[in-house]
Amino acid sequence: MYLSEEPLVSSVSDLHDRWVAERRREYYYRLAKKLDYRSRASFKLIQIDERFGIMKEGDSVVDLGACPGGWSQVAKECVGETGQVIGVDLRYIHPLEGVQFIIGDITDDNTMIKLLEMVGGKVDVVLSDMAPNIAGAYSMDHARSIELCMYAVDVCDRILKKKGKLVTKVFQGDLLEGYLNELRKRFEKVVVHSPKASRPTSSEVYVISTGFLGAHNVTPKKLDTEEAKPEFSAKGGNF
Ligand SMILES: C[S@@+](CC[C@H](N)C(=O)[O-])C[C@H]1O[C@@H](n2cnc3c(N)ncnc32)[C@H](O)[C@@H]1O
Repeated sequence: MYLSEEPLVSSVSDLHDRWVAERRREYYYRLAKKLDYRSRASFKLIQIDERFGIMKEGDSVVDLGACPGGWSQVAKECVGETGQVIGVDLRYIHPLEGVQFIIGDITDDNTMIKLLEMVGGKVDVVLSDMAPNIAGAYSMDHARSIELCMYAVDVCDRILKKKGKLVTKVFQGDLLEGYLNELRKRFEKVVVHSPKASRPTSSEVYVISTGFLGAHNVTPKKLDTEEAKPEFSAKGGNF
């Protein structure tokens, strides 16, 4: 009986955590349906924006990993008629009024070139809710998540205005500190945050970086407009 006590306690608390996570998931799912948001994830950005004041009327915003469009909807509401929102995703996104979408892989030069052309200058905010396909091996998923975050940083190095802001989703793990250090070289303030709308059991956190200082001692890789170069990779690039 004594021996079985600990596993029993931890399994009860696991069950409780899962129950809370499920209720929370269900709550935001219903709320998204009710308020016509395309994803529960919209509430994460709403909560982040309420707390950190990320977007304002007239801003230009790039939304990486935008499908199905929940964050782009929130961004468009924040920036209004005078602002600009450009979403990028591997997957097709149903049209959304006032938002432009690029279907492509941000790790691919061609997508980066399209994005730079569409933006045509500098932006105020870069958002990334990108997540890798879950392989099931946690350390691999974590490393891939960090790699995607570094592509978001690369986008900042190219097109984020001075004083601009970056929000990235990342799966926690041992590479997180290295990623935060990359951000600290480029931004005045870097905060790790978990919005209420994230499941309590989730390994994801959001990193809110504000006050962009400029690309840190890196010249972003020169893009070849004729042909995409396969060596463009977060590992061999600016990281
Ligand atoms: C959690 S979903 C984003 C949800 C979105 N923020 C919303 O509110 O609707 C993550 C997205 O990242 C995209 N993604 C993953 N890797 C990507 C890449 N290399 N380039 C572009 N998009 C990517 C996936 O296709 C997926 O749609």
